[in-house]
Amino acid sequence: ARILLLHGPNLNLLGEREPAVYGRTTLEQIDRAARAQVEAAGHTLDSLQSNAEHVLVDRVQAARGDGTAFVVINPAAFTHTSVALRDALAATRLPFIEVHLSNPHAREPFRHHSYFSDLAVAVICGLGADGYRHALDAALRHPAVAG
Ligand code: DQA
Repeated sequence: ARILLLHGPNLNLLGEREPAVYGRTTLEQIDRAARAQVEAAGHTLDSLQSNAEHVLVDRVQAARGDGTAFVVINPAAFTHTSVALRDALAATRLPFIEVHLSNPHAREPFRHHSYFSDLAVAVICGLGADGYRHALDAALRHPAVAG
């Protein structure tokens, strides 16, 4: 099956961006490990990072028709703002896991609300880059991917 890994705004700066909060792992390292994990299980990974809301919305819409079975997404700041990206995921009806490197609940109040969590299969936060490994492990076991 095909799994889609989506990264929201500013995650292209991982490794140098507030390392005390987000860790030192780069996005390239996250994507490389994710691809190896998914391919080792006999599946395919597509990944995309964008700072633009419409690019992420368009990619989610495209996932409806391209064979994507599952989405893992860190919407980053769009977590707290984007009804449009939420609606795109709701429209595709694809199962997804929401990942955050930090634990937004332990941070500023404006990070406590997510437009995604009530639609998500699961939410993983506070585990740094390891969160993606856990999310993909769960995705690989999900009936939509594992059959
Ligand atoms: C984040 C948490 C968000 O609040 C923040 O805007 C991000 C990253 C995380 O992975 O911890 O950009 O999604």
